[in-house]
This record gives sequence, C-alpha cells and structure tokens, in this order.
Amino acid sequence: MVRLAGNTPPFFKATAVVVATLFSLGQAHALNPIVIKGSKFFDSVTKDQFFIKGVAYQPRTLSVGFTDPLSKPGDCKRDVALMRGLGLNTIRVYQVDPALGHDECMKYLADAGIYLILDLAVPKHSIVRNNPEYTVDIWNNVRKTVDAFKSFPNTLGFFVGNEVTNDNLTTVASAYVKALLRDTKTYISTTSSRKIPVGYANNDDPNIRLQIQDYFNCGDKEEERIDFFGINLYEWCGTGVNYKTSGYAERTAEIAYYSIPVFLSEFGCNLVTPRAFPEVKSILGPDMTGNWSGGIVYEWSQEDNNYGLVKINPDNNAQPLSDYNNLKTSLASLHPQGVKMDSYNEKKPLSKCPEISSTWEPNAKLPPTPSSAACDCMVSSLAFCGMTSCDDISTNGKTGVYGKYSACSAPQKLSYMYNYYYTNIGKKAASTCNFNGMAKLVAASKVSDQGCSSVKDQNTDGSGTTNSGGQNEGIVTKSFGPSILGLQAVLVALVAML
Ligand SMILES: *[C@@H]1O[C@H](CO)[C@@H](O)[C@H](O)[C@H]1NC(C)=O
Ligand SMILES: *[C@@H]1O[C@H](CO)[C@@H](O)[C@H](O)[C@H]1NC(C)=O
Repeated sequence: MVRLAGNTPPFFKATAVVVATLFSLGQAHALNPIVIKGSKFFDSVTKDQFFIKGVAYQPRTLSVGFTDPLSKPGDCKRDVALMRGLGLNTIRVYQVDPALGHDECMKYLADAGIYLILDLAVPKHSIVRNNPEYTVDIWNNVRKTVDAFKSFPNTLGFFVGNEVTNDNLTTVASAYVKALLRDTKTYISTTSSRKIPVGYANNDDPNIRLQIQDYFNCGDKEEERIDFFGINLYEWCGTGVNYKTSGYAERTAEIAYYSIPVFLSEFGCNLVTPRAFPEVKSILGPDMTGNWSGGIVYEWSQEDNNYGLVKINPDNNAQPLSDYNNLKTSLASLHPQGVKMDSYNEKKPLSKCPEISSTWEPNAKLPPTPSSAACDCMVSSLAFCGMTSCDDISTNGKTGVYGKYSACSAPQKLSYMYNYYYTNIGKKAASTCNFNGMAKLVAASKVSDQGCSSVKDQNTDGSGTTNSGGQNEGIVTKSFGPSILGLQAVLVALVAML
C-alpha cells in the first residue's frame, strides 16, 4: 500500500510533561459550583444570583509565544492577590495546555473566590473561519482540555468558540462550531459528575450578531444549544457617552428576550486612555443587571495592544497601572444582589433558527463527530482501496456534505490521495509511489476501508482515542510537517495529474 512516509506530527509531545507537585496543596478551598436557571447564574448552595466581575487573563511573552497562565503557580499567586484587591470573582483564560498541571493555580483562585471560564479552542487546534474543518485533532484536544478542568468546582464554564464567524462571509464556520458544541456537551454529560455549562463568545458585527445569537440558542436538541452567551463588546469608549448613547442600551434590548444567561465576555474600549470604566456602573447596576450577568474586562496584563490593568515587569513583579486603580474605584460601590434562585421561575422561549440566506449560510446538517479510529481503519486498508475521489476527504458546511474521512489528519488524507494515484493512475507500479520521497509502499493490514467510516472512538476520558502515530512505527522514514496549506498544494498537484 501507499502510505505517507512521514512521522505523525509530534502529537502532543507535551503529554510526556508531568508536573510533579512537590508539596502538599492541602484541601482545596471548594467554591460552590455555579449553576444556570433560566437566563441567570446562581450559586448552587447559597442560591444567590451570580454576577460575573471578571478579567481576561492571558499574560504573553513575545519571545516564548503561547504560554499556559494556569500552569505557573508563582505568577498565579502574584496575580490572584491583585485580583482580590479589585474584588473580581471570575477570570477568562483563552489558552491552556491540558498536559500541564493546574491544581495550584486553581487552588489560589478558589481560595480568593475566583471562578474560571475557559476557552477550549487554542489556535493550533481550532476551527478556522475561512476554511472550516472539524478534525480528530481539534476534537481530541478539546476533550483533553475538558478532562483537565472538569473536576475543579470553580470551573464555571467553557467557551466552545470565540468570534469564529466574525462577518457575513464566514458564517459557514458556525456549523462546525455547533458540531463541536454538540460533542463537547455530550462528552461532559457522559464523563463529568457536574454539568459544566458550555457557551459561545461572539464578536459584535452588526451584520450578523442577531443571527449568531439565535443560531446558538435554537433547535430541538439540547446538546446543540449553548448554555450561556458572551458578547465581546467595545462600544462604550470614554466618558463622553453613556448607557443610552454608547450602544449598550440597544444591545440590552436585543438580548432582553434571550432565554439563557448573557454577559460581556470582553469589554473595555481603549480608544480613550487611561480608561475610567464608566460602563461598569451600568453593567453591574440597575441599567443592566436585570438582563445581563456581568462582564469581563479585557485584559489583565499590559501587552502590545495596550489593554492592560497591570504591567508585568522584567523582574516578574506586577505593577498596577492607572486602569487598575480606576477599575477598582468603579467596582468598589457596586454590589448587585439580583434575585434568589428559588423564587425565580421565569422561562423565556428558545430562539428561532435564522433563515438561510446569502449572508447566513450554515447548513442545518452539522458535521459528524470526528473518529480517530475511523481514520486509522482507513489508513490500514489503503493498499487495496478502490475508487475514490476528493469527496471523501472534503467538507462543506454550506451544502452539509461531509466526506467520510474529512475529519482525518492531513497526513492521513494525503495518504488516501497518494493511494488513489498509485492504484488508479499509476496502475500499482512501485515507481509511482514515491512523490519525491514523501511516500513509500507498505503492506496493508486490512482488505479494504469498507466500514471504517462508522468506527467510533470510545468516549471515556479521552483515553479511548487511538494515537494514529503508534502503528506507523517502523514504516515511516521521513519527517514531514503536515499543514493544511501543504496538503492543499499536494492535492492541487494531484488533481492536475488526474
Ligand atoms: C456584509 O458585510 C459587509 C461588511 O463586513 C457589509 O458592507 C455588507 O453590507 C454586508 N452584506 C449584507 C448583505 O449584509
Ligand atoms: C431588560 O431590558 C429591556 C430593554 O431595555 C427593559 O425594558 C427591561 O426593563 C429590562 N429588564 C430588567 C429586569 O431590567
């Protein structure tokens, strides 16, 4: 058979990294889990309504690139003390590495009464808005991230996507996000003792914000609807505008009928600096607490984009900036009470799914759940593979046609196409299986790929997933870094040959 002569990419090299906890953490201070009833959050024990007073927390180091802020206890301890000084109760983190240890940071947060809302999609493993795919790689990483955080009582919720569709040309991507939402919610309900809610964070594009809002809260199946909605809202800039003139009042009217909790998943326009945060008085006061559940200031650390509350100096000390002090002043007098859970029984209707149009294109049929077992099965059959075409590895969220191997990795898809060429064009001449040294003949361990596409992964803590790298050992000869662009280039070349 023809198989790509390439090492499977260092699929989670980091799983080898074990962070040993060298000292006892003691009994973690357990915060009461937050639950949802109707369109509000509540403390599950005190039954008080919960309003998010949050900050986006993702300090970056340009020289290092992506780092997981919840894997650094020293930094967490330093920052949590300052967050406590502000009276915050929530952080939003965009990127973590599920292979690292998070117990210490999560304990520091819990001890300070701070919850976590975590984004599940990191750039390396995410649905790309212009070229959406929902692959085994994305799904496996999401499951690992859920597993890494589902046991902490102060994990408030997960975001399954952030601004994936962000204009009227990228709406198809939302079908892929909704498929990931479905699988994530199903996974949580089968593997977690607590139903951790899953939401979506929208940008504020005037052309499609209402469709997005409706899309993620519509449909018959509970697992295909979000549990809460976030809006990244930057409309209120400076003290020259107010609740009515900033756009906030219009946004409030738009979500007043929404049946699930909504909050500002980012806010804090920085066109006027230092920021005085006048909007906080509306967000956590009578203007908005009847319809919203608080908000998350963007962002903790001062970075190139100039939104920081705190400057992390080269000596690793954190220095509060004037935005920090201004936010502190704004927050100090605000203590929204809301309603008690037991006396709150409002039930608003679900949203209506948006009509399909030239500017709202996602097909009602969602992509299937990716299965690494199906991809492995296919690859093990390749020598005797019959007729095929690009259809099997392509995906189209507009037509709702998802190829049976469209969720496989780039090397697996490429092997499938190499094999097609070798079998059908090359007439199985060994010389036609080379592709500049990228491929070589190997023995197939399966007669055909018949039935492969229906092979499912086991749904247990991510451990049932097979790493397709293992079975290639001894065959692979070359290191090959697969990428979507690389795959596309080869496919274009292959199609030209056909
Ligand atoms: C699509 O969005 C662009 C801006 O991103 C806007 O100019 C255009 O009017 C929109 N088209 C429709 C049909 O809404
Ligand atoms: C929710 O917002 C709408 C629209 O602004 C407003 O009429 C209504 O009074 C608000 N509800 C509460 C409980 O504040």
